[in-house]
Amino acid sequence: MANPAYDLIVIGSGPGGYVCAIRAAQLGMKVAVVEKDKTFGGTCLNVGCIPSKALLHASERYEETGQLFDKMGIKVGKPKLDLAAMMKFKDEGVDGNVKGVAFLLKKNKIDTFQGTGRIAAPGKVEVTSAGGKNETLEAKAIVIATGSDVARLPGIDIDETRIVSSTGALVLDKVPERLLVVGAGVIGLELGSVWRRLGSQVIVVEFLDRILPGIDNEVCRQFQRILERQGIKFKLSSKVTAVDANGKTLKASVEPAAGGAAETIEADVVLVSIGRVPFTEGLGLEGVGVRTDNKGRVMVDERFATNVPGVYAIGDVIAGPMLAHKAEDEGVAVAEIIAGQAGHVNYDVIPNVVYTFPEIASVGKSEDELKAAGVAFNVGKFPFTANGRAKINHQTDGFVKILADAKTDRVLGVHIVGADAGNMIAEAAVAMEFGAASEDIARTCHAHPTLTEAVKEAALAVAKRSINM
Ligand code: FAD
Ligand code: NAI
Repeated sequence: MANPAYDLIVIGSGPGGYVCAIRAAQLGMKVAVVEKDKTFGGTCLNVGCIPSKALLHASERYEETGQLFDKMGIKVGKPKLDLAAMMKFKDEGVDGNVKGVAFLLKKNKIDTFQGTGRIAAPGKVEVTSAGGKNETLEAKAIVIATGSDVARLPGIDIDETRIVSSTGALVLDKVPERLLVVGAGVIGLELGSVWRRLGSQVIVVEFLDRILPGIDNEVCRQFQRILERQGIKFKLSSKVTAVDANGKTLKASVEPAAGGAAETIEADVVLVSIGRVPFTEGLGLEGVGVRTDNKGRVMVDERFATNVPGVYAIGDVIAGPMLAHKAEDEGVAVAEIIAGQAGHVNYDVIPNVVYTFPEIASVGKSEDELKAAGVAFNVGKFPFTANGRAKINHQTDGFVKILADAKTDRVLGVHIVGADAGNMIAEAAVAMEFGAASEDIARTCHAHPTLTEAVKEAALAVAKRSINM
């Protein structure tokens, strides 16, 4: 290519793509972003993190108003739900965020193209607009940031009205009386919580014998009990094999995971939340020979390079946790690598948060992972029942657990279940990024009275010297 118009073309404007584009522009590159949807921001901003957190926030306030306000001496009567207004509140939040991305792209002088991008050849991206108009862009490098899509269950058609994915579950126009959730993963528990708080009877059918696979077992056991107390029912080691949508109510056939007699569970809405799959449709990967793995993920090396020179990939479309902040960090790293710098992502320190009430937050290794790797470790635990701030807030469910190397005391994992765990985990991530020992956290002054004192106390507990227990 003699002199391409762009240094970099990014396909997809989710947290991976738009962050990559901005970092590349900061580094002096001439950048284009191709996005097939009407708005920027990808899954996260349009139908993922942002709208789900808006509904979680609003429904949590709704429940708090009904349950905790009275106890605090605030008499407001029984709260009344205006679902349409709550949806508007959510939509305004989404709108503000997607417009924010459009503003940032413009501010960084990034050219944007609306249409589906197809890699016609290394360095060439053909953009087809919704109206069928074609144009070809040229660049020295291409970053694939096309994200992921809903995983489907064979034989169960998602109509996004009664049988919904997360996308449909974010826009229901009335509270379903009975909601059946397939999959006790992050989406099932977050959106299951939203609709339970708003009045649905929620039952979650999970294939495995536990909820939230991948998250520390002890955390999940306690968390499941808390969710059950809140009214969510669980059917573990079970699978939904069919949903009959012919009648007024949906009839789901539920079988033991290992096979056996089916039972029928009736529901008004079924939420299918069994994971997400990489999205590469229409990208033309086969044509240019970009390799994918057995799960359809674009294969990259440690520099995010595919096997085709000049073509890179990041975010949900490659291996690793499907998280917005993981995609963002990869976006920054790949832009720096393309610019000749040493971009890098530390996969050992990627926080994971479930935004239910209480929240679950973790970073680093779980006990099971350390045991499997044969690493000797000490455990420090501190319950929120012994934290002053949690007590005055009447929010004492949960605990902080710190896992530290038995020999060096280096922090290897931190797991929190409790109110505001998602904000508290940042301290653990910074400590781990700096290779902190549990004693470093224990000797760091934490403001009183805050929930973060439970993190300090858990660090003290590693050496069996917590003060408030
Ligand atoms: P995406 O955000 O999926 O963006 C990809 C973009 O590429 C899309 O805009 C798509 O239209 C575009 N695209 C695809 N193909 C083409 C093409 N050929 N041409 C042009 N454009 C194309 N993660 C968190 O960290 N925290 C959360 O709280 C959280 N909540 C979530 C809640 C829900 C309901 C869901 C579904 C997901 C949630 N996630 C959350 C996951 C998060 O949304 C993803 O990890 C993140 O969006 C991945 O970013 P990405 O840039 O890789 O891809
Ligand atoms: P998930 O992978 O978190 O959970 C899917 C669950 O479904 C698992 O527990 C799995 O065992 C179960 N399952 C699979 N097949 C099943 C079947 N046939 N019957 C019953 N259960 C079955 O996937 P989820 O919840 O759909 O979320 C997708 C991704 O989106 C997550 O991996 C996560 O990375 C991301 N996300 C992140 C959020 C956050 O960070 N707070 C919020 C929402 C989504």
